[in-house]
Amino acid sequence: MLQHVKQIKIGRNDPCWCKSGRKYKQCHMAFDEKIERIRQEGHVVPIRKLIKNADQIAAIKESAKINIAVLDYVGEHIQEGVTTGQIDRWVYDLTTKMGGIPAPLNYQGYPKSVCTSVNDQVCHGIPSEDVVLKDGDIVNVDCSTILNGFYSDSSRMFCIGNVSEEKRRLVEVTKECCDKGLEQVKPWGFLGDMGQAVHDHAYANGYSIVREIGGHGVGLDFHEDPWVGYHSKKGTEMLLVPGMIFTIEPMVNMGKEDIFIDEDNGWTAYTEDRKPSAQWEYMVLVTEDGAEKLSW
Ligand code: MF3
Ligand code: CO
Repeated sequence: MLQHVKQIKIGRNDPCWCKSGRKYKQCHMAFDEKIERIRQEGHVVPIRKLIKNADQIAAIKESAKINIAVLDYVGEHIQEGVTTGQIDRWVYDLTTKMGGIPAPLNYQGYPKSVCTSVNDQVCHGIPSEDVVLKDGDIVNVDCSTILNGFYSDSSRMFCIGNVSEEKRRLVEVTKECCDKGLEQVKPWGFLGDMGQAVHDHAYANGYSIVREIGGHGVGLDFHEDPWVGYHSKKGTEMLLVPGMIFTIEPMVNMGKEDIFIDEDNGWTAYTEDRKPSAQWEYMVLVTEDGAEKLSW
């Protein structure tokens, strides 16, 4: 992280770095001074690159529209007997038909267009024609889109047929965790405000949250700073300012928080105790007066 590096100095009458066309002193100067004061109080603050301008936000919202449409389509068609390989083909076909590229495809060697994580799979489940969804399964479908170079990222849980009450509750509470986290996202607050809200709701319900894998800044790249965890405390972690975009994507385990990675594929995380895990992922924009959910 480079937040301690001094940023290029802009003159009061120079054009603002946000490309609004206005003079710096009439645009982001006071904003930058406020961030600098908070940094001097000892907080982690965002570098400029993490603060999206209006054009970038508009472009990321267009990408998010594809992501939402793809997950809507999956929700309408997913059912018992469908393979996760079939879901991968839906995602590839629909994303490309709408002019986008599935971001996971070939990302650090990832072989498919989407992640499909069933039951005790925590995340990064790799779609396969051999994985047939069966009655009682819970599955996360994690979709990420590149449109004109701009990224969107979100995921949802789906319940297949008759799901046990305890698994259904895990899925619902995990979504509530994201909603409670989202409520805490506001300008001049801190990422830890969100993290603690997510954490407290999961643990109050007897669940745990995975420590090693978290959310991330997103938009100009697939994974940007800040790293987004859920074991952080209110008033800590990165300062939030308007224009930041990041994901809230806790992996909530019915049992213990420990996970392991499948040695054969190097990707898929499982719960160590093999109990079910659920995840929802919201992509969130910090606005002037709160937050906006861009995809889910
Ligand atoms: N979509 C995941 C996330 O939420 C990242 C998946 S990387 C992949 O950050 F390569 F596995 F697709
Ligand atoms: Co993500």
